[in-house]
Amino acid sequence: MPATSKNYVNTKWLKNLAQETRHIKQRSYQLLQVKLDSQVLDVGCGPAIDTIPLSEFIGDRGRIVGVDYDPEMIAAANQELKESKISKRVQHVQGNIFSLPFQDGEFDRIHLERFFQVFPKSSADEIFAALNRVLASNGRIVMVDMDLASLSVNFGDDEFERKVINYFTLKRRPNGLAGRQLVDILRKNNYNDVSVELIHHQFGSLTRDYWLNWAISEVLDAKIITQAEADRWNQELKRRVKEGSFLAYITNVLVSGVKPEN
Ligand SMILES: C[S@@+](CC[C@H](N)C(=O)[O-])C[C@H]1O[C@@H](n2cnc3c(N)ncnc32)[C@H](O)[C@@H]1O
Repeated sequence: MPATSKNYVNTKWLKNLAQETRHIKQRSYQLLQVKLDSQVLDVGCGPAIDTIPLSEFIGDRGRIVGVDYDPEMIAAANQELKESKISKRVQHVQGNIFSLPFQDGEFDRIHLERFFQVFPKSSADEIFAALNRVLASNGRIVMVDMDLASLSVNFGDDEFERKVINYFTLKRRPNGLAGRQLVDILRKNNYNDVSVELIHHQFGSLTRDYWLNWAISEVLDAKIITQAEADRWNQELKRRVKEGSFLAYITNVLVSGVKPEN
């Protein structure tokens, strides 16, 4: 069984990112086509990032279940739920993707965002088999992930920028290219109505420092660049923010499909 992955995520970062990527999340909810009686599973739910917004679409007979391996995420999700005062059927369950505590075909909608990227590519088939088991025939899945190869930062030294991004993407993330691989998974499993959409995320004031400090510090830790080069990166990006010439963005891939009849 592949290692589970908590990695770099924490509740504050996930909440900040969710605010800046609202347009992507909204589109993923539309693609999910939730109905009043839908039984929805959100995998890697974090601190109720998508479970609470998704509850807007269900009625009394519908249900939203978020599952996450990390007990801290589940505690934060339950706290958010309590504060939101939502009376719909929303539940957060601690569980591992590799042994999901649900019955076969229990859900008719599955949503997951930035999940495949936290596992090595070699785990993708096992993860999908787990999702496929709990999704009912004719049930719909929506998967969203980033393609880190599309991360682009307006920086004076192009070669240096590519070196940082390439190393960060290929060596420091379990699967930084997960976004572009999602469609293969659905095709391989003969899913119907497969659709692929691309949505950009331009780094704004909430995420830019976090993202770019994170990338540069990981590459520095790996001794791929020197401290002086990291300082140059930080200084130039700070200057660009001040001057209004800062520009950095990434592409997110949204893939949806319908499970074939058994
Ligand atoms: C990058 S975060 C994405 C969170 C959320 N979907 C969002 O859009 O902000 C990945 C989440 O997957 C959870 N996770 C990691 N390994 C897991 C596993 N083996 N089973 C279930 N959840 C896991 C992490 O705890 C984390 O909350």
